[in-house]
Amino acid sequence: MDNHLQGKHIILGITGGIAAYKSAMLLRLLVKAGAEVQVVMTPAAKEFITPVTMSALSGKPVVSEFFTANTGEWHSHVDLGLWADAMVIAPATACTIGKMANGIADNMLVTTYLSAKSQVFVAPAMDLDMMAHPSTVANIGRLREYGNIIIEPAAGELASHLVGKGRMEEPENIVAVLADYFRRKEALSPLSGKRVVVTAGPTREKIDPVRFISNYSTGKMAYAIADELASRGAAVTVVSGPVSVAPSDRSVKVVDVESGRDMAAACERIFPESDIAVMCAAVADYTVEAPSPTKIKREGNQPPEIRLVKNPDIARKLGAMKRPGQILVGFALETDNEMENAIDKMERKNLDMIVLNSLRDKGAGFATDTNKVTVFTKGEPEPQSFPLKTKKEVAADLADIIEHQLQAL
Ligand code: PMT
Repeated sequence: MDNHLQGKHIILGITGGIAAYKSAMLLRLLVKAGAEVQVVMTPAAKEFITPVTMSALSGKPVVSEFFTANTGEWHSHVDLGLWADAMVIAPATACTIGKMANGIADNMLVTTYLSAKSQVFVAPAMDLDMMAHPSTVANIGRLREYGNIIIEPAAGELASHLVGKGRMEEPENIVAVLADYFRRKEALSPLSGKRVVVTAGPTREKIDPVRFISNYSTGKMAYAIADELASRGAAVTVVSGPVSVAPSDRSVKVVDVESGRDMAAACERIFPESDIAVMCAAVADYTVEAPSPTKIKREGNQPPEIRLVKNPDIARKLGAMKRPGQILVGFALETDNEMENAIDKMERKNLDMIVLNSLRDKGAGFATDTNKVTVFTKGEPEPQSFPLKTKKEVAADLADIIEHQLQAL
């Protein structure tokens, strides 16, 4: 277990709760396992355990304020956030969880959390009633949605030891969760070294220089997939329509495009060099035959007639180009006859797998942070249906299925 933590950079965030005394043990175990630990404490945490103890155990000065009082030295939460391989906040009080869930960055710990690029683990610790309050439940739910991992004692263990919910998980178990996270991350994935192209977002089809036809896609699903595949060692290029999201994984390359035709050209260029393509973009099926070179005026004119023509079907084109050994994954966004339409698209476009999401499912499809998918795989009679999950979790499920497909090649 220990060697998975060897040399890892870990931020240990400590907040002001009784369980703060346990974070000294947690720190000792992390250091013993070979991790380099930077402790960040909230002002309230210092009422429960002294920074002197924590800096002695970590071998580093504790960070608590934005500036060192006597020297004026600025502590950069951004640099800290980039430095870390993981951040663990233990104990996490209801107050800090609330701030994290709502972006209230009034101390060094929460600003560091908001800047962290790594996985964040949160070990709540509070009184039973506070833990059960709807606001705490909602805030913890939000943290999960943001992709944080909540570490709590298992329910069975609580019952057998008659210990109240809200108790901080034991330091040994927190260390085990972290070690397991790094073990899984480092296990050589079949995706390691594979070149993947992911299409993302909407396309924009110009009507004139100021207007366009588009749809509600935000790119959230596609970028979550890109990040997940990159975290498993794939070299990922996203061909992206206009979106305001960005990859978290810095190895992910982004090729920006605007129209369906631009997206088709980029994909046809990149696909021959790729092992896998995931077609997650919501490409406009139609484009404007003759966009006006000047702004269409309102005055004096009859309402314009805009003639549409078909856009290239990118997935279908790639399906026709596909070589043995390449994997082509499509999506199907449906509003009715979901299963039939998805299977039909998989066959027509020569896909190896299709991910169905339906706008009839609450929390699924465009713009949400969640999705509910059913995955059809060529040659397998039964689809795999998943419950509503965060898009990050959906991306991990899809990556698992792609890994299986790679192993079966
Ligand atoms: O971006 P988000 O806000 O997170 O939302 C995610 C999503 C709903 C956009 C995503 O999960 C999704 O369903 N993407 C596919 C949307 C879509 O256009 O589906 P479709 O059923 O119309 O298309 C079928 C497949 O053909 C898709 O893989 C699509 O990328 C592809 N296609 C479609 C038309 C076209 N001209 N070229 C294509 O390649």
